[in-house]
This record gives sequence, structure tokens and C-alpha cells, in this order.
Amino acid sequence: MTTTVDLNERIPNNVDLAGDRRLKRALEAWQPGFLDWWHDMGPVGHHTKEVYLRTAVSVDRKGWANFAYTRMPDYRWGIFLAEPEPDRRIAFGQHRGEPVWQEVPGEYRAPLRRLIVVQGDTEPASVEQQRQLGLTCPSLYDLRNLFQVNVEEGRHLWAMVYLLHAHFGRDGREEAEGMLERRSGDPDRPRMLGAFNERTTNWLSYYMFTFLTDRDGKYQLSSMVESGFDPLARTCQFMLTEEAHHMFVGITGLSRILQRTCELMREHDSDDVRRFGAIDLPMFQRYMNFHFSVTIDLFGSELSRNAAANYSMGLKSRYRESHIDDDHRLEHDTYAVTRPAGADFARQDEPALNALNERLRDDYVAEVEDGLARLNRTIAGYDVDFTVRLPHRGFNRKIGAYAGMHISPDGTVLSAEEWQRQAVGWLPSDSDRDYLWSIMEQPVLARGQFANWIAPPARGINEQPIDFEYVRFD
Ligand SMILES: [Fe+2]
Ligand SMILES: [Fe+2]
Repeated sequence: MTTTVDLNERIPNNVDLAGDRRLKRALEAWQPGFLDWWHDMGPVGHHTKEVYLRTAVSVDRKGWANFAYTRMPDYRWGIFLAEPEPDRRIAFGQHRGEPVWQEVPGEYRAPLRRLIVVQGDTEPASVEQQRQLGLTCPSLYDLRNLFQVNVEEGRHLWAMVYLLHAHFGRDGREEAEGMLERRSGDPDRPRMLGAFNERTTNWLSYYMFTFLTDRDGKYQLSSMVESGFDPLARTCQFMLTEEAHHMFVGITGLSRILQRTCELMREHDSDDVRRFGAIDLPMFQRYMNFHFSVTIDLFGSELSRNAAANYSMGLKSRYRESHIDDDHRLEHDTYAVTRPAGADFARQDEPALNALNERLRDDYVAEVEDGLARLNRTIAGYDVDFTVRLPHRGFNRKIGAYAGMHISPDGTVLSAEEWQRQAVGWLPSDSDRDYLWSIMEQPVLARGQFANWIAPPARGINEQPIDFEYVRFD
């Protein structure tokens, strides 16, 4: 079955909104608030007229990425669920083997709503965090990619709001309103999760965010694609398709920065690339330290009864649950978790159900390590002797067993004073931020040109040339 989406609908969708007038009216009532939010909190651009964006017109292979020039406020944010899998069964937890639910089971209403609201809240948050970046873009290509990510995060908000409106009645409608009321970094009504209240002030942060924090999104969504609540599973499935591009923007952006830095190091036979307006490798490492530490906090405490309950109820699984060879109930299994023990760390077997957050974090870190290996190959390709490393799991943590501790990137437990003394070398400083501002302040808006601190990409978007007019201005 292939459902084509009618883009002329007020809310494009493949969920037969026309057949449910009450729901359609409710979402149409939410829409103006969303557009106001986009207007107030969406990307700031240099009188951007049209952007070469992809828009989903169906969820199949041919239709999900249709490229055309689009005015951003006219972007067709829609509701798309992946096609249902006939006779799908719940793959884990107490209900393993039972048919998936099309409606929310009454007793699981609160935890399901919580999962959807927390996921939904991150989507507009990242748009808010990134809204100023267009003013300092390194090229039209990068500007277009930023805007693409932003409109899709807006669509992800629609995806979660649809579930709230369709399945959670009045509470759901109230939660949907809340999504438009909280603001990233606002002291009185912040977004729900820490990493989404940090500002993404420059393009180095942006690529770190898309490399690391969008990947957290991938892992959260992946643990919901097998949810027993089928509409959530199908929603997350389609979001994952879009998420892949966000992580592509991240890793290629970081790789292009390293490429440019290493080129200049070779050319001038010097480590001091700031003289040439590039990003030095120690600063790159400090940004990696920061973004990695705030992002792994998003996985929550090492041991969590909540995570255990969500699993047993069949709401949220492990990463690639169906590919794991065990009983998918975990009531008698253990999982090894490393935690602080005095001035050292101890690895200990814990009940597997309680350790699900840590397990998801482990899977995530393994994938980040793969990406980092790729970045380090870029550096090695220039014969530069530098390896970017992930900091120790306990470095700069605010959540879980490491919170409140002072741990260096190499995993040494320090006193608060010692940590304070050294932290300036481990985390981005005001002078790093000032420097980045100085090299990024002037946007590069001419076709085919790139800021001096980043190399051009290997290829353009959708097989267009690199000097394509990805963004048109008034
Ligand atoms: Fe997203
Ligand atoms: Fe994303």
C-alpha cells in the first residue's frame, strides 16, 4: 500500500485526516500557533526568499525526498507515518507476542504521554537553539542544510503533536500547547532537557550538535520504533529517515573543518592555524568534550526504574531490539555498568532491566566512536599527529552517578579546586567563542564560495553542483 500525500491539504498527511473531522479541526486550531512560533523562533536569515529544500510527499522511497525551491514559511509541514506492518506483534516486555496497540492502553497513558512529550519538546528546542546561525553561514550549501534540518525538526514537532491530539484527548491538547510555550534557555519556562537549553552559538557547535545530539535523537527514536503503541512506532520510523541527513550534516561538517585546518597546518608547517583564520585542533577537542558530555546526560541515570517499567510495559525497547538474541523480557538478566567508586570506577553486574539507560548510552557511544574514527582518518590523511578523543564518561556530567564529581577527560577523579584550575583547557572558553565569532561573523553568501575555516563538501545536494544556488535572496 502506498499512500500519496495531498500537499494542497491545509495539513498534508497520510493519516486520513479528512476522515476524522474532530481531529482535523483540533490540529487546524493548533496550526496558527505553530506558524507564529516559527515566525518568532524559527531561523533568522538574510532576507531568505527561497531555499532548495526536500519535502516529503509520501513515505515510500520515491516520494519522501522531493526537492524544490520553497519559501520557508510556506514549507508543507505534514503528518507522515511509515506504512503499517501487517500483523505486527510486540517484540519485548510483558506483552511480548501480543498484537501491537492501535489505541493507548488506559493504564499506560501517563508514561506514554511522557515519552511523547519529552521527545516532542526537543524538536522545537533545537530550532530555537540554532535560529541565529543563518546570519553567519559559511556558504549557501551550509545555509541550505541548516534550514533543511530546521524545517524537519519543525515537522518532527508536528509528528509528536499529532499523536498527542489523536490519542490523548484534552491532556494531549494541553501538552501540544505547552510545546509552543516553552523556550530553549528561558529561565522561567525552559525546554525539558538540559542539552536543549544550551545555545548553539556558532557553526562548530552546530556541527557538534548535529553529529552528537541529533544522534541521541536517533537512539531515542530507534528505541521507540518497536514500541507496542503502533502509531508511535510508525511515526518514529519515518522521523529516522529524516534524522539520517541531520547526522550527515554533522559528520561532514566536522570533517570539512578538520580538512581545512590540516591543509593549513601542512601548507604553513605550523600548528598555529588561528593566524590563518582556521579552527585549531585543541579547540575542536574542547567543543567535542563539551557537546559529548551534555549529550550523554540525555540518556538519563545509569540505573532507572522508569526505564525498566517502560520496557516491561512494551513502550520503549533497547536499540535494535529484534536483532538481539535473548528472551526480550530481561527479568533474569544482568548488564555490566561502570560507576564511580571512591577515587576510581567499578564495573558491576546490575539487573538488566534497571540498566537500560546505560545500555542505550553504550550503544550510542560505540556509534560515536565509529564516527570519530572516521574524523581521525581525515586528520591522519594529512600526516598530522593529533587524535580527537571522546572524554571519559564521567567528565562534566550533570545527571546520574557522575553528577557532582570532578573528573578529567582522561578519567582522573579530581578535587573541585583542581578541576576548576584545569577546566579552561577542557571546555570551550569565552576566548574560544570570541575567536569563533571573529572568523564567522561575515557570512559567505556568494555561490560556490566557502568561509576560510571550512573546506567545500565533496559533492552537492541531490546531485546538484557545489556552486548551485541553494538559497535565493530577496
Ligand atoms: Fe528531530
Ligand atoms: Fe534532527
